[in-house]
Amino acid sequence: MGKTAIYPGSFDPVTNGHIDIIKRGLILFDKIIVTILENPAKKSLFTINERIELLKASLKDIENGNIEIASYGGLLVDYAVKRDAQAILRGMRAVSDFDYEFQMALMNRKLNREVQTVFLMTGLRWIFTSSSIIKEAVQFGGDIKSMVPPVVYEELKKKYNLSNR
Ligand code: PNS
Repeated sequence: MGKTAIYPGSFDPVTNGHIDIIKRGLILFDKIIVTILENPAKKSLFTINERIELLKASLKDIENGNIEIASYGGLLVDYAVKRDAQAILRGMRAVSDFDYEFQMALMNRKLNREVQTVFLMTGLRWIFTSSSIIKEAVQFGGDIKSMVPPVVYEELKKKYNLSNR
């Protein structure tokens, strides 16, 4: 049986940093289920359906039956069990991510010891790329084109009523 990982997140929206983790995750896992979950600490810009569509469009060139895009309204570990996934995949950027990721991984382990959290270090190119910082920069006209897939760039401009630049 192949190994499956859940790659969970808000993906509001998906960035090139996420795509990099998915590509590299596929070296370790036979299947990755990219799953949009609620993060109660965050207010979202895109609806779940919009985020699913952006993920689909951004991943269409690397998808080969080995990537699934899903959303779930409950606990991450419950979804992992439901989907027979052995692991949760997360990307880790700078040290600033560590506390949050460590807490989350330990909480998930407390909730279910059968599901392992696996971290990949974010590629150096994407170390400062986050959905939140991109949303902040783009609404003030910052050039974030190189940080997101082209389809996401276009949708971000629409959301913030920015003219073509
Ligand atoms: O991209 P994010 O916002 O850092 O992802 C966080 C996310 C959505 C993976 C996390 O909030 C989550 O797992 N939410 C689902 C609810 C849950 O299982 N919480 C317990 C883990 S602490």
